[in-house]
Amino acid sequence: MKITVINGTMRHGSTWHCKDLLLEKISQLEETQVREFYLPKDMSNFCSGCFSCFLKGEDTCPHADQIQPIVAALEEADLVILTSSVYGLDVSGQLKALLDHLCFMWLSHRPNPKMFNKVGISFATTAGAGLSHTTKTMQNSLKFWGVKKRFASKQAVAAMKWSDISDKKRGQIEKDMAQLAKKATVAVANNEHSAGPLFRKIMFVMMKNMMKKNDWNLTDRNHWEAHGWLNGTKPF
Ligand SMILES: Cc1cc2nc3c(=O)[nH]c(=O)nc-3n(C[C@H](O)[C@H](O)[C@H](O)COP(=O)(O)O)c2cc1C
Repeated sequence: MKITVINGTMRHGSTWHCKDLLLEKISQLEETQVREFYLPKDMSNFCSGCFSCFLKGEDTCPHADQIQPIVAALEEADLVILTSSVYGLDVSGQLKALLDHLCFMWLSHRPNPKMFNKVGISFATTAGAGLSHTTKTMQNSLKFWGVKKRFASKQAVAAMKWSDISDKKRGQIEKDMAQLAKKATVAVANNEHSAGPLFRKIMFVMMKNMMKKNDWNLTDRNHWEAHGWLNGTKPF
């Protein structure tokens, strides 16, 4: 299984350890090939809001040299993992900065068919609060990239670092990760034949109708046309 991980912090803290446990559990079930990115090391820019990705293509993004290898690794993966500790009830700023750069491939712009058969997992870790909001931010990206099957790991660890987590909680995390590893492995194995999310179908039909009338962003429209989606070709 090919796995691409976007680590929302550089820190080998609780989030990193939870994700690492999951990778270990998956590798006990089958052979894995893991590619990891760390933020902000591997993508250190904020979106400048130039609209260039939307209007002229993602290769014209001023930060394309950092964005393109990440997109290529996402495209290659069977399983995509996004992780973040909770910072101020949401994802880390560096993860949000990356997710902003990837809006061009949302279903509402230029959906990437290579994302349609993937399994995605979000990882959020908090001292106490903010898991839902943080998870939603990551899940929104997976959802709007058109990822087929999504899971979420949410851990309230009541700690500032991994070594401070109680034995009881660690035992629980270990069990959670073993379960998640099984679910993710089954989902990847069955992905080709499993049904896609209803949201994706509805969104696609809505956007198709909008794209037909779209005379304000020909880059987006041409993408839909080139895939034959405006003439009835089904994407999933
Ligand atoms: C800048 C910053 C903001 C934080 N904001 C919150 C918060 O809003 N709610 C909360 O319960 N914990 C918050 N925390 C605590 C972390 O989410 C928590 O300790 C988490 O487990 C750290 O994950 P890590 O070890 O992977 O870095 C914050 C920590 C930092 C450094």
